[in-house]
Formats: sequence, C-alpha cells, structure tokens
Amino acid sequence: MVRKRQVLLVDEDRIRGQAVMALLEEQGFAVTCVHNAQAVLKRLDAEVVDLLLVDHQLPDISGLELVRRVRGQDETLNVILIVPAHSTDTVVEALRLGVFECLKRPCDADELILTVGRALETDQLKRQVEQLRSSSDRDYGIDKIIGNSRALRQVLEVIRKIARSEAGTVLIQGESGTGKELVARAIHCESSRANQAFMAINCSAVPETLLESELMGHEKGAFTDAKVLKKGLFELADGGTVFLDEIGDMSPTMQVKLLRVLEERAFRRVGGIRDIQVDVRIISATNRDLVRAMEEEAFRSDLYYRIGVIPIHLPPLRERREDIPLLAEHFIQYFNREFGKQVRGISRMAEKILLEYPWPGNIRELKNVIERAIILECEERLLVEHLPREMVGKTVGCQAGPLNFRLPPEGIDIEDVERELIRQALELAEGNQSRAAKLLNLGIDALRYRMKKFDFL
Ligand SMILES: Nc1ncnc2c1ncn2[C@@H]1O[C@H](COP(=O)(O)OP(=O)(O)OP(=O)(O)O)[C@@H](O)[C@H]1O
Ligand SMILES: [Mg+2]
Repeated sequence: MVRKRQVLLVDEDRIRGQAVMALLEEQGFAVTCVHNAQAVLKRLDAEVVDLLLVDHQLPDISGLELVRRVRGQDETLNVILIVPAHSTDTVVEALRLGVFECLKRPCDADELILTVGRALETDQLKRQVEQLRSSSDRDYGIDKIIGNSRALRQVLEVIRKIARSEAGTVLIQGESGTGKELVARAIHCESSRANQAFMAINCSAVPETLLESELMGHEKGAFTDAKVLKKGLFELADGGTVFLDEIGDMSPTMQVKLLRVLEERAFRRVGGIRDIQVDVRIISATNRDLVRAMEEEAFRSDLYYRIGVIPIHLPPLRERREDIPLLAEHFIQYFNREFGKQVRGISRMAEKILLEYPWPGNIRELKNVIERAIILECEERLLVEHLPREMVGKTVGCQAGPLNFRLPPEGIDIEDVERELIRQALELAEGNQSRAAKLLNLGIDALRYRMKKFDFL
C-alpha cells in the first residue's frame, strides 16, 4: 500500500486552518495544521512532509521569510504560499525561492484542492522524469537479457514471475559479470513499479560511515557535514525499487539496520526521531558465497533469510556456452551502432576460440573482448587475430605452444612438427597466408616455401 501524502499546513487563524484541513483530508491527504513558523520548522525537523502550505500572515515571521528558512534546510520541499491580494513583490520573491504556486486570498476551495493535487503530482512526475532520464539511453526489459540456454531460460521464467508478483525481496547471486544488475533492472522494468524510481547503490563502494545516510537520508545538522536535510535512497525510491549491490560486503552494523528496514519497511533518517514508512521492493545482489560468509560469521543469518526469500542464481557463462555465439552477435551489433562500424559477424575459428575459453569474467569479459576487437582492429569480420593473445593461447587446439613441447623419449621427426605447426597456423588464420606467417614469425616467402615443401600448396 502506498502511503498517504503528508501535507503540513500553517495558518494563524485556527478556524480557517481547521476548515482547510478538513477539506484536504477529504481528498485523501494526511494533514497536520500548526499556527506559527516556529512550529513548522520544528515539525520539518522531525517528520516527513510532502507539501508545505503556508499562509503569508503568521504571528512570528512572515510566510515568505519562513519559506526562505525552509529552503536553507531542504531545497526540494514542495511549497504553496497563500498571499493577500495585490502583493506582487511577495509573489515574485516566492517564485524565485522555488515556491510551486502562490494563491491569492481569499482562495477558492476547488482551486486550493487542484493546486495541492498538482503540486504533489509534479513532485511525483519530477521523480519519474529523473528515473526515465537515468535509463533512457539504455532500455532494461527482459528482452534485453540475451541467451537461449536452458539455464538462462529458467532464470528468465523466474524473473517474469517475480516481476508480476508483489514479492518484496529478491536476492541475485552469481559470479562477477554474470548480469546481476541487468536482471535487477529487468525485474523493476517488468513490474508494476516500472514508472517509479529504481535506485541502485554499491554497498562496497560507499564508505561505511556514509552508507547509512545514503540509504536512510539524514536530518539537517545530524553531523558536521549535514548542512541540509537529505532524503535517502529508501525514501526516494518510495513506490519503486532499491538495488543493493554487493550486499555481501555490508558491515555488521549496517546489516542490523537493514534488517529492521526489511522487517518493518520503516527506518529513521540519521539524526531523525520519526519512523518513515516506505513501500519499496528491495533487490540485493552479491558475488560472494553468503552461506560461507554466514558460517564465518561475516554475514548475519537473520538478514540472509530475509533478503533471500526469493533467490535467483545466475549461472556462469562457461556453464551455458550455447549462449556465447548469441551474445557475441548481440555485442557486435551493439558496438557497430556505438562506433559506426559495419562488422558482419565472426569467423568460424574465432567463434571456436570464444566457445572454448573459460570466461572467468563472464559476460562482461565477453563484452569487453568484442568491444576491443571492434574499436581497435576489425573491419568486416571478427577474426582470431582480433582476439586478445592470452585468450588464443588458452584455448584447446592451440595449447601445445612451442615452449611446452616435450620431446617424446622415442624421438620425433622435426619436419612433422614443422608441418603440424604450419597446418595449425593456416587453420587459425583461416587460410590467410600473411596472417599465418605472422603467427609463426615468418616472412611470407618463408611460409610459402614451407607450404610447398609440405604439400600445402
Ligand atoms: N544475458 C545478457 N545479455 C546481454 N547483456 C548482458 C547479459 N548479461 C550481462 N550482460 C552485460 O554484461 C555486463 C555485466 O553485467 P552486470 O553489470 O549486470 O553484471 P554483474 O553480475 O552485476 O557484475 P559484477 O558482479 O561485476 O557487478 C553489462 O554490460 C550487461 O549489460
Ligand atoms: Mg554489478
């Protein structure tokens, strides 16, 4: 259930305040009414407010001055100011301070309701626009997850089910580069939360002391650098998804705090005294073995059982080799577009090497290999010579590098060795003689001479 929007109303006139409060409550907003500026500042320190509705005439300071002070604490809070008729200067200054709208007294009930509604909607829209902007250059649906292996298809089936469900917590495990973040984003994009925020944080990249305020936010003055109030990821992602990457690296203290968020979907900003309720789906990911981490007491078991209600395991690329050609083709198209190239595919031999390589860095490594080949060297087709040397050396078929030769005890005919090496070089170079010559560190004439000698020509 999405929480009610909180409106804080300040009006010196108690009776009028009551009336406005009743009017807005009827529209489904949660309204608090106070009667002077001091009370507003106090409330803002302790509570979550989505909209501040200010009457310009207050007993302690003017409404405009109040807005100025509020802006010093929170630059983003939505404010509507109600001003006396004929107060152009106040209006101009208020708008300069980023007030959403100035309404003239006496104001009409319908106009007030409409404006409040619009202000809150704009707030929501702003968040959605930010969300769209951050993902507009890359589209993250399930169809962007490439692969047709049984293992991957099973994972995709699970993702579809999760996305459609109301399941609140998901844990994605897999080696580095297997697509954990891609999957997390796909779940978000395919869910009913898609047009709300997706907020990601890498728990191992943020220093422990900062992580809490990144996640939960902080009140103004909570610590030396907290000059203004800041909302944390959980609050910003209300209605959407929070992605906690590398959760296995989270410190024990943060683990306890996160546990509470997971259990109650509530937390306090650093330095805050009020619980904030949010509706977020929490997707965690890790490349660490959490069961082992639990045994070593580096990861709390109660947290593990909470985050792992729905586990997804992404298989390493070497366990779904049939996806390699598809992925390679996908990345070739992708980098063709990116770099304006027209590479038309991959040679048989190069594909063979890609299929046999163990891919310790998984899909990210494959993507990098293709990117490098396309930027640096290849023109029409991706060939063996465009692949990193270490890779070519590691795969079967080429592993008998000259330095590893062992002379068999019964001896060998050196010409057989030479013939075999020339055969392999020509195969690797796919018949291209100058490339084969390069592989053997021979001149083209020297290669031709040998090819003739061994009847290759
Ligand atoms: N199945 C897939 N189809 C297409 N692209 C993929 C696939 N899996 C991963 N990728 C791409 O590979 C790269 C690495 O994926 P991602 O960042 O999701 O991996 P990760 O598991 O989060 O890695 P790490 O543990 O290193 O953070 C990304 O550029 C992603 O787009
Ligand atoms: Mg990642």
